[in-house]
Amino acid sequence: MSFSPKIAPSILAADFARLGEEIAAVEAAGADWIHIDVMDGRFVPNITMGPPVVAAIRPHIRTVADVHLMITPPEPHLAAFAKAGADVITVHAEACPHLDRTLGAIRDLGCKAGVALNPSTPESVLAYVLDRIDLVCVMTVNPGFGGQSFLASQVAKVAAIRAMLGDRPALIEIDGGVTVETAPAVAAAGADVLVAGSAVFARREPGGYEAAIGAIRAAALSARSG
Ligand code: DX5
Ligand code: ZN
Repeated sequence: MSFSPKIAPSILAADFARLGEEIAAVEAAGADWIHIDVMDGRFVPNITMGPPVVAAIRPHIRTVADVHLMITPPEPHLAAFAKAGADVITVHAEACPHLDRTLGAIRDLGCKAGVALNPSTPESVLAYVLDRIDLVCVMTVNPGFGGQSFLASQVAKVAAIRAMLGDRPALIEIDGGVTVETAPAVAAAGADVLVAGSAVFARREPGGYEAAIGAIRAAALSARSG
């Protein structure tokens, strides 16, 4: 089957006063998923949004609501995010001592279950939960803020996870510092979903979102096919 990279703009970099319009604009510009960064000021040093905001923007999302929970502990809040309309719920391995149980709980809520790994976390934490995972999110920055520089150290981790997954259908997502320059290396290593915050939403000129999404997609495609 031919490789088709999914581009997931992170609304962390959008105009928060106009989230519905921003979502419509990036979807019209070719976004495959909408990435929603939830931060608690504890697991990460920043605070963003919770279930009421996800519920409010959900009717504006025609694609996939990809909710990235940077919160500890996530378990008490999973049902609220599922009810708010999350399609994918990703938790951090570092925030979940009972990761096997947590992933089962996400699937029991009818959502796809994702695991995110901080840059310092080895892929070995996934070894015994591989069959419970729908998505692995490889953080290519230390989570907490948009607009940080891509950590090239993580490319080898992407390749290792791709090998671990074998022929399982789970997707590999890349989150942090994705640009036209950094997308090829992770695509070549096996990434399926590319989150891009500032690289998309900074392009506020007419046609900018479409140009940014198209350029990242083309960069990923050329790396994987060539
Ligand atoms: C970082 C977030 C990312 C972030 C990506 O903690 O998880 O999703 O918004 O933003 P950029 O693409 O600007 O690095
Ligand atoms: Zn994220």
